[in-house]
Amino acid sequence: MGNGSGFGKTILFGEHFVVYGLPALASAIGDKTTCVVEKTEGTGYQLNDDRPEIPGYKEKKFEEQKVSIQNVIEFMNINLKEQGLKITLGGNLVCASGVGASAASCVALARAINDEFQLGWDDTKINEAAYEGEKGYHGTPSGIDNTASTFGGLVYFIRNLESGPNTMETIKLENPIDMVIASSGMTANTSVVVADVRKKKDENPEWFERIVNEYQNVVKQGREALENMTLERVGELMNKNHELLQKVTVSNEVLDKMVKIAREAGALGAKVTGTGRGGNINVLTPDPDLQDKVFQALKDAGYAAWKTRIGV
Ligand code: MEV
Repeated sequence: MGNGSGFGKTILFGEHFVVYGLPALASAIGDKTTCVVEKTEGTGYQLNDDRPEIPGYKEKKFEEQKVSIQNVIEFMNINLKEQGLKITLGGNLVCASGVGASAASCVALARAINDEFQLGWDDTKINEAAYEGEKGYHGTPSGIDNTASTFGGLVYFIRNLESGPNTMETIKLENPIDMVIASSGMTANTSVVVADVRKKKDENPEWFERIVNEYQNVVKQGREALENMTLERVGELMNKNHELLQKVTVSNEVLDKMVKIAREAGALGAKVTGTGRGGNINVLTPDPDLQDKVFQALKDAGYAAWKTRIGV
């Protein structure tokens, strides 16, 4: 029996922009997806998906998940014509758009296969396998989700648009920072949203370029503010990043309402995180009382919410 796990993630700066080779900052969160892989008699694989979810998530992602599992198995050279596998997914990461659920399951599966078949793969190879799995969910993943899910911590990431390796730096924070993540309850399709943003960019490259220029300042200053722990500034920049995501149409009314509730409850910053058009927001609440207050305000408004920490 082989075991593996992968962290959930939250993107602080740069979802969507990261696809075009711009820097982004993401952090693993404490919650994980786990995987157990067992060799069985026969051929093919059997999946037990016991992960907790936002209602409807697993059903909506099922077809993509099948491609993803197949991709990981093939990349790891496991021949399911000679050998059967039982795959059991679990853990405490509640599957929703925006929290890196797909990447976490790919990493967990790759690690469990590595364990069961004694392949001796290191994290760099596990990350590559998980990236292949991510392609099942959308054709052109930037790689930021599987990287945060594999390595953990706070990651500064730049996708290499040529064939070489991506840039990845782990950033150490002076102290971990408390945050709240909340779900709109809507499951988004990453392929569709990414393709839509690309279409808008291609239709109006000058408009997109202006937004990109603004974003570049946001991520540069965001990294500095995090490293200096000037958290009011981090919050302002998250708000600015949300504004840019609104411009590229990846927010929606529900997400904007949630962001407003969080800010009115005192959050230093709040934004869409991940794919958008549904999924989650992340909220900067660097103090336990503030974290409680924002968490409660979002719960009272009817949204599922979680307290988490970045930079652990
Ligand atoms: C999804 O978590 C993040 C996106 O930027 C897609 C990607 O980076 O592959 C929307």
